[in-house]
Amino acid sequence: MSNESIITVTELKKHYGDIKAVDGVSFDVKRGQIFSCLGPNGAGKTTTVEMMEGLRTPTSGKIEIFGVDVTQDYASIRHRVGVLPQDFIPFERLKAPEAIAYFAGLYGKEMTKDDVNKLLETVELVHRKDVIAKKLSGGEKRKLGIALALVGEPDLLFLDEPTTGLDAQARRNLWGLLENLRDEGRTILLTTHYLDEAEKLSDEVFVMHKGKEIARASPQKLIEQYGGKRSMIIHGCDAESIQKLEASGFSMERVQKDVKLFIGEGESVRDIVRRLDSSDILYTDFTTNEPTLEDAFINLVGGTIVSGELSK
Ligand SMILES: Nc1ncnc2c1ncn2[C@@H]1O[C@H](COP(=O)(O)OP(=O)(O)OP(=O)(O)O)[C@@H](O)[C@H]1O
Ligand SMILES: [Mg+2]
Repeated sequence: MSNESIITVTELKKHYGDIKAVDGVSFDVKRGQIFSCLGPNGAGKTTTVEMMEGLRTPTSGKIEIFGVDVTQDYASIRHRVGVLPQDFIPFERLKAPEAIAYFAGLYGKEMTKDDVNKLLETVELVHRKDVIAKKLSGGEKRKLGIALALVGEPDLLFLDEPTTGLDAQARRNLWGLLENLRDEGRTILLTTHYLDEAEKLSDEVFVMHKGKEIARASPQKLIEQYGGKRSMIIHGCDAESIQKLEASGFSMERVQKDVKLFIGEGESVRDIVRRLDSSDILYTDFTTNEPTLEDAFINLVGGTIVSGELSK
């Protein structure tokens, strides 16, 4: 990742009458970053992304991509940008290679049969190349959309929920593909509802809620700050051991038959095991829980909804 800004968004707003779909967001995306935009349904992610794609006109604010103001001159950067819309629908009567050839034409690009096959291999659609798009499954249509976004070998990719509808294996394979594209120095802005995906892929995460930013940082920082405590689930305690646990000052809660112990700042799993042993607490087994981006997200967004006001 370099320090060069590929996207700079300043005080961006999109209002539809009383609906403040996007209400004053600012951020910066660097070259070679995977930047993920997260937020509950209706947070304003697609509206933000589609303004960056030049598809919607901002109510106010500024978007610069490759140093160009997109409301002034999108045409000069369009060939460097690839787009997968959230509601992508392929041309029903075209087969995947035909759709790819059509898009290549739009980019003024010559693609040999081999090039087309390679792209189909990348998104795992080779075996479906003789089928018209109408007959592809939901996930296969999504894969075709991703292939079309890649046709122009873009420096910047906008992917609005790229893995929605993909099976588990296809999702993982797409993660690998996105990581490879990033390693080539391309920049990727994606939205997703899969927090594991955002945690694994993102260099930076932007959390939106009700059109505003509520957090922006690397996944690790968000987990540290909002993920909550690490914990251990202690299995197989008998009633006497549970009583002892309650008496021994652990920060704990009951989880069905098991007990959850919270690991304090600076404490290790070994410290807890030693404390259990020295208090003669019997158990069969334990598992450890590290907080995830999903925990951080729930704490962030849930907290915001409950308190009824934004933290920023
Ligand atoms: N063309 C429009 N006219 C009126 N309201 C709109 C329009 N487009 C979006 N909205 C509203 O703006 C808000 C943000 O919508 P948006 O599609 O950007 O959310 P999102 O974060 O992408 O949600 P999801 O996770 O469900 O895709 C919603 O309240 C939506 O109803
Ligand atoms: Mg959306």
